[in-house]
Amino acid sequence: MFARIAGTYDGLNKTLSMGIDRRWRKAVIARAGQLKGARVVDLCCGTGDLSLLFAKQGAQVIGADFTHEMVKLAPAKRSAMGPDMPALFVQGDAQYLPLPDDSMDVATVAFGIRNVESAERCLSEMLRVLRPGGKALILEFPPPSRGPAGQAFRLYFNQILPRSVMAWPKPDVFADKMRAAGFEDVGYKSMSAGIACLHWGSKPKAS
Ligand SMILES: C[S@@+](CC[C@H](N)C(=O)[O-])C[C@H]1O[C@@H](n2cnc3c(N)ncnc32)[C@H](O)[C@@H]1O
Repeated sequence: MFARIAGTYDGLNKTLSMGIDRRWRKAVIARAGQLKGARVVDLCCGTGDLSLLFAKQGAQVIGADFTHEMVKLAPAKRSAMGPDMPALFVQGDAQYLPLPDDSMDVATVAFGIRNVESAERCLSEMLRVLRPGGKALILEFPPPSRGPAGQAFRLYFNQILPRSVMAWPKPDVFADKMRAAGFEDVGYKSMSAGIACLHWGSKPKAS
């Protein structure tokens, strides 16, 4: 499905979200803390927008997505931002990361974990590759509310993703999944009248 929409994904995203998606990705950066030299893996990176925001802050970023048609568009965006942008893009599955244990300061996923066959498997890979104290930052769309914001969201969302992946737990339920996966200091913040939600958690420090 993503291979089919890759060429129009960025434009569709910008138009349908009226640019708010940029604000949501910036909230991830704000939550990440000190990023100069930090090692960041951005899973389900798509065409690389979040990866490149991290790279702009001086982080060393690996963006991974299993849809070649999406991730192959990222290097041109990197080049357009100037030389030596510290971001590397690879094709890879968020459930099986070819990264060593305890090797990353931040593991992030924006609007992608709902598409992964096993969100639990993805969370456990994020936990494995994070160093103790490292942060997981996850952006997702919670179930839409009944009000006008919820209606607008439904319109946006139905254009971007197939209905088969509409089902996603409420923020407090997903926060419990993060705790069950082994994260601590778990929390979340609803944004834009509950249209998007930023989840976070840390890998426990070694005792
Ligand atoms: C809605 S897009 C989000 C892209 C990007 N993170 C953004 O914020 O624009 C979801 C992405 O998840 C990717 N994806 C789905 N399942 C995946 C998996 N198991 N491993 C890696 N990427 C996956 C798709 O290829 C797609 O590019």
